[in-house]
Amino acid sequence: MNSDKKTEVNTLIHTQILEINPNDIDMDKLAMAGNILRDGGTVAFPTETVYGLGANALDEAAVKKIFEAKGRPSDNPLIVHIANIEDVKPLVMDIPDHVHVLMEKFWPGPLTLVFPKSNIVPSMITGGLDTVAIRMPAHPIARNLIAMAGVPVAAPSANLSGKPSPTLASHVVEDLLGRVDAIISGGNCEVGVESTVLDITGEVPMILRPGGVTKEALASVLGEVVVDRAITAGDEKHLIPKSPGMKYTHYAPKANVVVVEGELQAVVNKIQQIQQEKQKTGMKVGIMATDETKDKYDNAQILSVGSRERLETITNNLFRVLREFDEIGVDIILAEAIERKGLGDAVMNRLLKAAGNSVERV
Ligand code: TXA
Ligand code: MG
Repeated sequence: MNSDKKTEVNTLIHTQILEINPNDIDMDKLAMAGNILRDGGTVAFPTETVYGLGANALDEAAVKKIFEAKGRPSDNPLIVHIANIEDVKPLVMDIPDHVHVLMEKFWPGPLTLVFPKSNIVPSMITGGLDTVAIRMPAHPIARNLIAMAGVPVAAPSANLSGKPSPTLASHVVEDLLGRVDAIISGGNCEVGVESTVLDITGEVPMILRPGGVTKEALASVLGEVVVDRAITAGDEKHLIPKSPGMKYTHYAPKANVVVVEGELQAVVNKIQQIQQEKQKTGMKVGIMATDETKDKYDNAQILSVGSRERLETITNNLFRVLREFDEIGVDIILAEAIERKGLGDAVMNRLLKAAGNSVERV
């Protein structure tokens, strides 16, 4: 499947699949994966956000393999993952006081911090920027793996560039089998959307990518926090996002995605109307609904992404549901918008990117 979307690699390599139970970790298997990383190989592993594709962050030849396996543009920098808070020190110039507070409060967890980088961080990691993005993941497999590797681990999401991020090992296998040295199969990623990227190099901390830690939670610790206008101002396309990755088309399933935003009943009515128009032209229609609305639709491929009352169910399911529409083989996905607050910020950011910013407002 999806071979049409895979970019060329010269030769396929043998990929080891390592089944590891996150609640009862087989340390021998994890040590094998740690050795692969230390020796310059690539290992995909679960984190609490999404699966990552790891390599030794201090080894340029290893990092290059990540870009090749994913078909990732070389100007899109990688997040460096560490196992302990102390491990941040050698990678950065300095750590301001208020950032200590953030690390204590949100690490381990889905928050990535952008620091001025030290000399040991290769420019291949940072896409030539003088900053480096660092995160300490909470998932027990991720943390033990990084500790066993004994090196900081560069890891983007373990999908082919442009596709939805993987939240199950099967997603990683679909995208990266034959392109990486090992894949750890370790269950479902609970958060389901990537970490929040927060730039702390300026006067006021700035969210470059909304994610698993909400703006509201950051504001409760920092007081003031702003969001990069380039990622919120949908109509002002001239603004260039400060996080290079945010400028690319992303999270895109094969089908076209149209997001419908507005008062909920009006959204349902509009989706039903578009559904009928598209079906008249012979298109196979998918509807991304919510638990609260899924029974209002019929005669289409209807998948609920979770409950509006519990946004963590929606982040958990979002990427899996986008991939499921591909498996079903629909021509168009009509998606209900989610209220843009709390985790809804991250959901809408990913949905709008999947839709190439195609929104119907009602
Ligand atoms: O949850 C996550 O963050 C996952 C897991 C695997 O940890 N990783 C992830 O990595 O989402 P990736 O490469 O798919 O996204 C990294 C984002 C990109 O938007 C990239 O442009 C941005 O972080 N980024 C990395 N370094 C940066 C820097 N120095 N300045 C600004 N943005 C940076
Ligand atoms: Mg990614």
